[in-house]
Amino acid sequence: MHSQLQSIDSLAETSLLHQPQFVLRPHTLKRSAEYLQDVFQGTHLFAVKTNPSETVLQLLYDQGISSFDVASLEEVKLVRRLFSDVTLYFMHPVKPRYAIRQAYHEFGVRHFSLDSEAELVKILEETDHATDLNLHVRLSIPNNFAELALAEKFGVNLQDAPALIKQVAQAAMKVGVSFHVGSQCMHPDAYRIAMRMASQVVRQADVMLDYFNVGGGFPSVYPGMIPPDLQSYFDAIHQEFANIPNHESMQLLAEPGRAMVAESMSLIVRVEMRKGDYLYINDGTYGSLFDAGTPKFIFPMKLLCKEEVYSTDLRPFSFYGPTCDSLDHMEGPFYLPSDVAEGDYIEIGQMGAYARSLATAFNGFQCADELIHVSDEPLMTMYGDNKAHSAHEKLEIIAA
Ligand SMILES: Cc1ncc(COP(=O)(O)O)c(C=O)c1O
Repeated sequence: MHSQLQSIDSLAETSLLHQPQFVLRPHTLKRSAEYLQDVFQGTHLFAVKTNPSETVLQLLYDQGISSFDVASLEEVKLVRRLFSDVTLYFMHPVKPRYAIRQAYHEFGVRHFSLDSEAELVKILEETDHATDLNLHVRLSIPNNFAELALAEKFGVNLQDAPALIKQVAQAAMKVGVSFHVGSQCMHPDAYRIAMRMASQVVRQADVMLDYFNVGGGFPSVYPGMIPPDLQSYFDAIHQEFANIPNHESMQLLAEPGRAMVAESMSLIVRVEMRKGDYLYINDGTYGSLFDAGTPKFIFPMKLLCKEEVYSTDLRPFSFYGPTCDSLDHMEGPFYLPSDVAEGDYIEIGQMGAYARSLATAFNGFQCADELIHVSDEPLMTMYGDNKAHSAHEKLEIIAA
């Protein structure tokens, strides 16, 4: 069950929000899923880690998403419990043996990723040398254009990749390559470069590929981080794909997370104390606002309207979260009316990606379980008539 409201502002009229409160805008998921499927000449595997809410997964499934990138046995079980007819891609390159065994034998998983010979051996042993495996070799590709790099930890280096691909091709029914350009990738050229590198490696391996997976990384929009139009990312991918030898016999895959769900949720937090330009709020970096802490993302926000009228003068604030730890600090700047005070509620937008899934219960602080649905528009969007212009387009508009 969930409550349904027309607009997020009506939440401020109730004083019942004891805990930080997530709010879902279902229509934005319809919009992003429709757009991303229309614009891509391949199959999207939704990256479940980004937002494993059952409501979100169901809405995406209803929009035709039928392939899911899962990273753990728990995610395998979750998606399989909800949908018996979808394809699961277990794309974590280092999996526990029990997870491989159960995923294959109990949950029908036939797609696995790997970045080493040792993982190949594990997959073969735990599936009892299955002959129906689809194996995806994860390549390490530079993450120069991304706000959050993911290349250090996973991926076989490009020198060793051809030999591994050859080896995998001998063991698998079908073989693919995958990479991740890094999350919140700010330029489509990242995909061009990665695809050229991957294509070169495949040529060296001299193997006929079945899958070419361009991974995640598609951006959302944040204050001060306005990416080019998503269309330009897919144009780049399609152009590069057309240049890859034998691409006609390959299936093109992508693993969008952030771009699919970021704008679908907002978080409502309460100001518990103001000390000068510091606001002490009831959620923080150990909760749903990890990305406002270490990677220092600036999220869009606004005060929820109450009866009194706020100043139109905006001022930069930093936040402290509710826990005892000084690391529970979000530098900002977060622009809010200069007279913001204790007891005010703030809507923080673009909270649909990674926010809820990264939250801990440290110090006993947790957000409310219930998800409130609203039908108004998000604070920022990449889609539809109100989409943010890219910085490039903005310059052209100013110059005109
Ligand atoms: C293997 C894999 N695929 C897809 C994603 C989703 O990435 P993004 O949210 O940047 O689209 C991630 C995120 O970490 C990932 O590790």
